[in-house]
Amino acid sequence: MTKDLQLVSPFPREHHVTLWAWMREFPSSNLDDYGPKNAEELGKSLTTKQQAGEKVYLVVYRGRPVGAIGYARVSTTEGVFRGVCFAKEVHGSGVAFEAVRMVLVRAFRDGVGIVLAYAFADNIRIRKFLRKFGAIRKLAPGLPSSMRGGKVVQTAVYGIRANDFLRAMQRLEVRGGSSIESEAIRGAA
Ligand SMILES: CC(C)(COP(=O)(O)OP(=O)(O)OC[C@H]1O[C@@H](n2cnc3c(N)ncnc32)[C@H](O)[C@@H]1OP(=O)(O)O)[C@@H](O)C(=O)NCCC(=O)NCCS
Repeated sequence: MTKDLQLVSPFPREHHVTLWAWMREFPSSNLDDYGPKNAEELGKSLTTKQQAGEKVYLVVYRGRPVGAIGYARVSTTEGVFRGVCFAKEVHGSGVAFEAVRMVLVRAFRDGVGIVLAYAFADNIRIRKFLRKFGAIRKLAPGLPSSMRGGKVVQTAVYGIRANDFLRAMQRLEVRGGSSIESEAIRGAA
């Protein structure tokens, strides 16, 4: 599947509206009371993030835009996902899995030892999804909560260590160049 997927960055402006539509498919997974309220605000926030050095990828599958992944390296040892959202039509197809796997391979090759992801604690999809990459969920007390629809919503943080990622990929027997990638990651782990 890797050859059918492209990670395009910077995120093309003409797809701000597309991403906003994907985020609106599951608003309670993607939006709190403080974030963007429309495609224009989303676009401004993406521009600011990218100017600050964050990677925002448009994921294109067989020529069609299907999702977005935000990623930032925050220190020599740590990277953070800054939002992962795919069109409902590709959920469960393995496309999101493969695209996120590609970003993780890049991150670990780049030398980080752990990639974190923050999400609403009640987002079961992302919890199950990240576990496939070897993520460990940490429910740190004192982790900032947010407001969603005027109500407090807890945040969960997930951590994917290079070693755990490698083991998870070996378990799933991901193929298609993964042995080369595994070697590169092993160096960083
Ligand atoms: C999170 C996301 C990228 C995962 O991609 P995906 O292709 O759906 O992922 P997968 O199918 O591999 O895994 C999702 C798991 O959640 C399960 N799931 C889906 N809907 C569910 C629901 N309503 N309740 C419980 N589990 C659910 C699926 O069955 C699957 O588990 P399984 O593989 O054990 O059967 C995608 O669902 C998405 O873009 N969601 C909206 C945005 C979002 O929530 N982003 C995270 C916040 S930053």
